[in-house]
Amino acid sequence: MKFQGSQNYVATPDLMLAVNAAITLQRPLLIKGEPGTGKTMLAEEVAQALNMPLLQWHIKSTTKAQQGLYEYDAVSRLRDSQLGDADSATRVQDIRNYIVQGVLWRAFTADQPVALLIDEIDKADIEFPNDLLRELDRMEFYCYETRELIRAKHRPLVFITSNNEKELPDAFLRRCFFHFIKFPDADTMRQIIGVHFPTLKGELISAAMKTFYDVRGLPGLKKKPSTSELLDWLKLLVAEDIPVEALQSGDDKIAIPPLVGALLKNEQDVSLFEKLVFMNQRNR
Ligand SMILES: Nc1ncnc2c1ncn2[C@@H]1O[C@H](COP(=O)(O)OP(=O)(O)O)[C@@H](O)[C@H]1O
Ligand SMILES: [Mg+2]
Repeated sequence: MKFQGSQNYVATPDLMLAVNAAITLQRPLLIKGEPGTGKTMLAEEVAQALNMPLLQWHIKSTTKAQQGLYEYDAVSRLRDSQLGDADSATRVQDIRNYIVQGVLWRAFTADQPVALLIDEIDKADIEFPNDLLRELDRMEFYCYETRELIRAKHRPLVFITSNNEKELPDAFLRRCFFHFIKFPDADTMRQIIGVHFPTLKGELISAAMKTFYDVRGLPGLKKKPSTSELLDWLKLLVAEDIPVEALQSGDDKIAIPPLVGALLKNEQDVSLFEKLVFMNQRNR
């Protein structure tokens, strides 16, 4: 089992190495990086390349670790017990009818090895990663209601992503293989664009990339635009048929790029950019 990138996803050699290291070690792969640098997509692509079904668990601020294991649906059971018909009466006898399996349960009991994505783990509260330590380490947990031990038939390939909004506990980190997706350099970015827009003219790509990296390089930006924003922007430039000249700014002067709303996502950043353009024009 080896991951070698895919047709839709540009994986740098160090990223491929990290994926394969996690496979070899049989440890979860913890992937950090700016939003929009392809963390979620990596799990989807690896699963597809290795021919494994992907179970996804998208974490919110209210997500609890237990929900990934199972939940006991007491309300349904109570309702069934009050209905009084024969069907409900037999259902109520077996508590297993009210156990709702979570993603980990389904991943552990799947007949074939699966990939499991725990997406944006930093969204949850700080207890969340600790609460999953044992389950991810031993690949088993106990269901108290049915008194059964759920143990992984096959160790799932686990991906955990984080946007770095919160620190993760040391005990959790110790059990993962870690990789930080660096922001793509120009070469890699060109490849990524090529994957998404195979027929786009080189001239437009170069001009758009120059503007994009200029915007990213602005000191003091609150939110730097990322890969996915560049791709959105390119899509718009194509859809609106914006000519290359609108992006190229001759000498060294800076201009507000068209459709800048695809790149800059808050008013402070836009006004910072406008100020810079204004100062630049005065200095000429
Ligand atoms: N290496 C890459 N190869 C191809 N497309 C990429 C790559 N990195 C990012 N993208 C594009 O950016 C989008 C956002 O990626 P995503 O995985 O959602 O980012 P993240 O989970 O890191 O926020 C993807 O849908 C894809 O179109
Ligand atoms: Mg994501």
